[in-house]
Amino acid sequence: MNNLAAVIPVIDFGTFLETGEDAAESARVVSAFEEFGAVVVHDPRVSAAANDLFLDMMEQYFEQPETKKLADARPQLQYQVGYTPPFRERPRDHRERIEIMATKERPSIPTEADAKGRYYWRVGTPPATTQFPSLNADNVVPEGFPEWSATMDGWGHHMLNAAIAISELLASGLGEEKDALTRRMIGAPHLLDPTGVDLGAFGKNGTICAGFHYDLNFLSLHGKPRFPGLDIWTRGNKRIAAELPDGCLLIQAGRQLEYLTGGRLLNGYHQVVVNEKTLAAIEDAKAAGHSLWRISSTFFAHIASDELLEPVVGLTDAVRSDLYPSRLAGELVQEELKAIGLST
Ligand SMILES: *[C@@H]1O[C@H](CO)[C@@H](O)[C@H](O)[C@H]1NC(C)=O
Ligand SMILES: [Fe+2]
Repeated sequence: MNNLAAVIPVIDFGTFLETGEDAAESARVVSAFEEFGAVVVHDPRVSAAANDLFLDMMEQYFEQPETKKLADARPQLQYQVGYTPPFRERPRDHRERIEIMATKERPSIPTEADAKGRYYWRVGTPPATTQFPSLNADNVVPEGFPEWSATMDGWGHHMLNAAIAISELLASGLGEEKDALTRRMIGAPHLLDPTGVDLGAFGKNGTICAGFHYDLNFLSLHGKPRFPGLDIWTRGNKRIAAELPDGCLLIQAGRQLEYLTGGRLLNGYHQVVVNEKTLAAIEDAKAAGHSLWRISSTFFAHIASDELLEPVVGLTDAVRSDLYPSRLAGELVQEELKAIGLST
């Protein structure tokens, strides 16, 4: 296992933000997604203070009693806004994929639902009309957090802006128009996705907070959490501990990006499991009197629910477009939600 930035290229947005293009970084973005399914980015607009404010508030939120949090759950909306209780989401069975890996690269095999709970907060402008109202529902604001919307939108917009910049760099690098991806993201149900695991209760070595899986969305962005435990896998099935340098974001390819590129870029896999570094961080947090909730500062960028998903971006002769039949992004999302136990 290696430190992330030692392995995966770190993309600097500086020139792109000044000039609106950066051919060299575009090429590096493409090769990073091809080889690793992920990039690390340094976005000078992303403030560590906004991440801290967000993590502080989410720790307070998750520390509340379960009955209080359940008032914010919306099972009838497939949990696509508000609170999702722990031990609800169950990863797909990926054992076939795991068995081809070298033993030392293998993830933990999930045997039950994930220990993580989560809060979904929709970010960005909703669509004017949609065939998928439950995927585009209004946000839930929990009681007792007057600063909630401003804090969530503050961090959420940092993440959305980074997602837009990487999508423009990526589209250019794939030989497409700069807006080939972002024009499909207009009115999409982007979600800020803080997950929470009570390491005070579940912080034993090997606890699966989030079992080995890919993400069903377009791109997943991760800010730096206060507890380690995230591992990602490269296209060549190498496992990497996602130790982020300060001030950087990890961006991993999701299912919708794989679809649009006809498999030229594959969705990345990851897990969050308590390991020895997590245990050390738990001891430090206890000694310092800090919260023992592990909060992830994750953001799911989406393609708009009513947009067609089909292989149309950056295609090469080698891609197997036939594996990706046309369908609406919202249909793909609903099928994936069923497979992981969030909808019936
Ligand atoms: C934690 O689990 C890992 C993987 O099973 C193992 O190699 C390691 O020795 C364990 N550490 C402790 C402190 O139990
Ligand atoms: Fe994930």
